[in-house]
Amino acid sequence: MHIHRYEKLWLIIGSIILFIFLGIVAVQTFFLDMGPPSHAEMIDPQSVRESEIFADPELKEIGDNEYEIAIIAEMFTFQPGDLEIPAGATVHFTLASPDVTHGFKITDTNVNVMVVPGHISKVSHTFDEPGEYLILCNEYCGLGHEFMANTITVK
Ligand code: CUA
Repeated sequence: MHIHRYEKLWLIIGSIILFIFLGIVAVQTFFLDMGPPSHAEMIDPQSVRESEIFADPELKEIGDNEYEIAIIAEMFTFQPGDLEIPAGATVHFTLASPDVTHGFKITDTNVNVMVVPGHISKVSHTFDEPGEYLILCNEYCGLGHEFMANTITVK
């Protein structure tokens, strides 16, 4: 069987490009830690409130201007309510839902995660700019979806 010279050439170029792309993805995943999350933490939606992490959801100082908070996203509220944090603080959010899928978006930041029942979602953010940040549920979760909003006051 005869393959035309140009056809061969394009096959070779195509293969090289494919391996370059696969190489880039491999480097990002295995060396730059940009791969999708694995070993995800699970939680029984029925017992979110009884679990050690979510028993008393409140802001805890864990280091030099570093905080952690467990937040329960449920129909139709985020527990605990509005938060106040000092400017420059890094906050580690741990989220779970006892009912349906909710969203957790903080306006003017890159924070935007889904809170899926059965899973624990984690996200961190450093609040350098003082101001009011809105926390929104951006996954439609029922008739009270639009009431799921809190504020983070950074000052
Ligand atoms: Cu919770 Cu929409």
